[in-house]
Order: sequence, then structure tokens, then C-alpha cells
Amino acid sequence: MKKACELKIPFVWTDRRPIILEKFLYIPKAYDFHEQWERTPWSDPRFFGNDRPVALEYCSGNGQWICEKAKLHPEINWVAVEIRYDRARKTWLRLHRDNLPNLFIICGEASVVTRHYLPRESLSKIFVNFPDPWPKLRHAKHRLIQEPFLNDAACLAKPGCEATFVTDDAIYAAQMVEELAKSAAWRPSGKILDGESYGSSFFADLWKKKGYSIHFMDYICHQ
Ligand SMILES: C[S@@+](CC[C@H](N)C(=O)[O-])C[C@H]1O[C@@H](n2cnc3c(N)ncnc32)[C@H](O)[C@@H]1O
Repeated sequence: MKKACELKIPFVWTDRRPIILEKFLYIPKAYDFHEQWERTPWSDPRFFGNDRPVALEYCSGNGQWICEKAKLHPEINWVAVEIRYDRARKTWLRLHRDNLPNLFIICGEASVVTRHYLPRESLSKIFVNFPDPWPKLRHAKHRLIQEPFLNDAACLAKPGCEATFVTDDAIYAAQMVEELAKSAAWRPSGKILDGESYGSSFFADLWKKKGYSIHFMDYICHQ
């Protein structure tokens, strides 16, 4: 069983750099050299060491949803992207506790990860589950789902890659649809997703308990 202290991240200012340690890619926040990273295929032994399809979840929080998926679908490689170190580390502990060799954790900002760190045309499925809604108008610029991010994500998608966006925030849901319409790569799949079988997460459970409606949007990459 792994302990949190076994994840040795180079936090010291002069030492900090992106680093891969035991199924965990750490990308520092205040760092100017992202473009120096050499993209490596998922078959690299430091990632999965095989060519199975790869599904990636952005904003994975404490990893409840993706760990469950990784258990249920060992035939797929799963990647969790989360900006907060404490949450990414919690997912890493679950990975080792539940012995999930088909899971990899990335601790980094989603736009940076997408633009600089991942192999192009390599993803079979993308999920964005409850990204922060930034409900105040003056903070809306921080929302993740905007055209530049969607275009970068399309570069990582294999042709026919599906992307599912989930939110409890009706305003953000409407904005997602607008931004997706601007990005030529993504078109609605026409699929109606069923919240019951989608899987549970901390925030999905919380919003369901409060009786909030959950918005599911499913798209396909045509690039
Ligand atoms: C509302 S929580 C949802 C967590 C999880 N998906 C769930 O359903 O329980 C949003 C998560 O996205 C993370 N996050 C917010 N902005 C991010 C970004 N730009 N890149 C990566 N993660 C981000 C937050 O740290 C937080 O853990």
C-alpha cells in the first residue's frame, strides 16, 4: 500500500520541472518551458506500455469516477487530469490501493496539458466532468470550455473520438454548446446520455442529492 509521502515531487523552486514518477506526471504551475517537453506515445512504459485505446478525463477531482471506470474497463487505458495536487495525489493513492495498471494521473492545468504534453491523435474518448463553473460574470473568462481549448483537444483526438461534457450549471452548459459550435472539429453525436449509468463522482452525487439537473452533452471529433 502506497503512502502519500512516497510521491516525491520536486517542489523546491530551483528544482521544479515536469516529471513522471510511478504513473504520475507532475507539471508545475509557475513554469515557463512547457514547449520543451517531448511528447511521448502512450505505449511508452512510463505511461501504459501498451497500445490499448486511451480515454481521458479532465477535472477529475479526487478520482472517484475514473477509478471506477478503470476497474470496470481494464481493456481501456484511463488518464486523469487534475490541477490540484491534493486531489491528484488522492487519485494516485486509489490507483495503487485498487491496483489499476490501466490508470495514469496528470497533475496540471488542463489547457497547458492539452497544448504541450500529450501525444497528438491519440485519444479515443474525452470526458469533462463538472468543470468549475466560475459563476460570477467577471470570472467567466476562467472557464475551461472555450474555443482555443476545444481546438487543442481536437488535435489530441483520434478521428471519431467522442467527447462528453457534464455540468450542473445551466449557463455554463449553454456556453459550452456555443463554444463547441464555434470549433469546427466538434459536432453533436446525437447520443442522449443516461445519468444513472454514467457513473458517480463526488460532485455528481452532491448535485443529485440537492436535486439539481445535470446537463450531458456528447460530441464527436470530425477533424
Ligand atoms: C467541481 S470539481 C469536479 C471534480 C470531479 N469531476 C467530480 O465530479 O467530483 C472541478 C475540478 O476541476 C479541477 N479543475 C478546475 N480547473 C481546472 C483546470 N483548468 N485544469 C485541471 N483541473 C481543473 C478542480 O481542481 C476540481 O477538482
